[in-house]
Amino acid sequence: MATSFGSRGRSAVGVVVVIAVCILYAGVAASGRPTTSASMDLLSARGGIRRKLLKNGLGLTPQMGWNSWNHFHCNINENLIKATADAMVSSGLAALGYEYINLDDCWGELNRDSKGNMVAKASAFPSGIKALADYVHSKGLKLGIYSDAGSRTCSQTMPGSLGHEEQDAKTFASWGVDYLKYDNCNNPGTSPKERYPIMSKALLNSGRKIFFSLCEWGQEDPATWAPSIGNSWRTTGDISDHWDSMTSLADQNDKWASYAGPGGWNDPDMLEVGNGGMTTEEYRSHFSIWALVKAPLLIGCDLRSMDSTTLELLSNKEVIAVNQDRLGVQGKKVKSDGNLQVWAGPLSANKVAVVLWNRGSSTATVTASWSDIGLKSTTVVDARDLWMHTTQSSINGQISADIDSHACKMYVLTPQ
Ligand code: GAL
Repeated sequence: MATSFGSRGRSAVGVVVVIAVCILYAGVAASGRPTTSASMDLLSARGGIRRKLLKNGLGLTPQMGWNSWNHFHCNINENLIKATADAMVSSGLAALGYEYINLDDCWGELNRDSKGNMVAKASAFPSGIKALADYVHSKGLKLGIYSDAGSRTCSQTMPGSLGHEEQDAKTFASWGVDYLKYDNCNNPGTSPKERYPIMSKALLNSGRKIFFSLCEWGQEDPATWAPSIGNSWRTTGDISDHWDSMTSLADQNDKWASYAGPGGWNDPDMLEVGNGGMTTEEYRSHFSIWALVKAPLLIGCDLRSMDSTTLELLSNKEVIAVNQDRLGVQGKKVKSDGNLQVWAGPLSANKVAVVLWNRGSSTATVTASWSDIGLKSTTVVDARDLWMHTTQSSINGQISADIDSHACKMYVLTPQ
């Protein structure tokens, strides 16, 4: 992929530029910067949307970790989870910020015990969840668990928490659980807006800081109400390990960009990188876009046997740094010429992250003009290519590259 950088003169300054700059940067100015305060009431990225945030102090940057569902579905057990924690550390991924090891559906027995408590499935987790949490914590990692705001989870193989929220939150806290993904199957038809706040409150009262990840599949536009009760909310249905699924979820999630920020994030579902259904360039696009849009970076492959390409994609420090940037503004699709797209967003220190994305079926040139990405036309930048790990200095006006089908280029632009 050849990269070329054109230049544009001052004459290009015009109404369009001014409007674009205003739109992008009005948001930056108003965006919620991370705060350690437990009582946060921040303005969101754009449009001055006031966000009342969950008071658990978590999720100041998008969560990073691993979840069992995309690769293993119900085939999980304690040895797998322990080996995954081991691999998270030995691969170097833990040191890059991946910290949560999250159980998804199917960790529990079919029924509660005689006291109404949820119990770990003895055949798969004979040592219990507390012992598993202790093990994961001993590796410097955190343990996540899964439940459902209905009578049973989606697999139907274990109870949901509806009507048992306080008891279950206390159980999870007593086990040392750090994260709850809360699904929406087998509910009685009432609104998630009624059911999810009950668990949010129960977690807050559980005596342990527990990250709350809502999973109602974007059904009732959770971006508009979930920031006050959760740290992230799914904006879409389930991802599958295919290009069309991944691109469709990216597009659906984009609509909610202005609602994301430190403390609460849009979640277009977990990563499929390494699961085999996409090409390397498609996975590079998947990871780049998820990073740019401040999506949770929850790995969904088998960490014990990932190949070196998968590890290289998941461990790109510079891409991770975009995702974890303290400004916490979700990047957006800012230009779309059919399948040739520019996605961009502001970073701290006046930097700008840009993805040039060729979603078409043949090689093409994709160009981002400064007016597309919120830079003044006179701005001169240094452009860091996050996948090539090279820097080109003194770029004017636009950045452009020839990009293969389904591939992307990702840059951080630093104004001089
Ligand atoms: C779905 C959810 C998936 C996974 C699955 C487990 O509702 O969206 O991410 O958790 O249930 O059954």
